[in-house]
Amino acid sequence: MTQQEMKKIAAKAALAFVTPDTIVGVGSGSTVNCFIDELASMKDKIKGAVAASKASEERLRSHGIEVFNANEVTELDVYIDGADEITPQGAMIKGGGAALTREKIVSALAKKFVCIVDGSKQVNVLGSTFPLPVEVIPMARSYVARELVKLGGSPEYREGVVTDNGNVILDVHHFEILEPLKMEHTINNIAGVVTNGIFAQRFANVTIVGTPKGAKIIE
Ligand code: 5RP
Repeated sequence: MTQQEMKKIAAKAALAFVTPDTIVGVGSGSTVNCFIDELASMKDKIKGAVAASKASEERLRSHGIEVFNANEVTELDVYIDGADEITPQGAMIKGGGAALTREKIVSALAKKFVCIVDGSKQVNVLGSTFPLPVEVIPMARSYVARELVKLGGSPEYREGVVTDNGNVILDVHHFEILEPLKMEHTINNIAGVVTNGIFAQRFANVTIVGTPKGAKIIE
């Protein structure tokens, strides 16, 4: 079975977590694209969605799903998104698609975070397989990079990428994140950092893993 097929299995299983008659929080990425396509099958049963990227907004609209601005909602029942890495405790690295800041904002509005992944995203320690994305105000890029080196990482400028918020991304390689919550706060305290891709404060409450045997749900 391909990775794409496993993403689709996880995405389909996430529909069971959508509360009818509510606005759904929707993340960004290829797994979320599968989820948006599945969500279209119940578009008449939901009020609409708040999306974490312009790409997700466009895909939702293409299915006729109404898109709300994050400022229009006070709380969401559920936020559904993918991850680049996830631990058994539900801490994640996100931001492979550069949408980490909006993902943090929309997920902060939600009572429950449901993370949809294929098995390749499961790790015991964050940073094992994927570099940590950090969104940075452009004029602070070199300063933030030097501070990340002091924390033990090897930051690399993601050439040619500008986020939906007009900022740049530093990907921090060789960064074993043993204390995700502490590191999330430490990096966010560097001047010029908008946010980093550790989701430990807002961890996943539910993980749905797409496998050849079906969806495995970890709560
Ligand atoms: C985008 C993200 C995505 O959720 C993450 O990169 C996973 O993407 P994919 O579903 O394509 O593997 O954080 O910023």
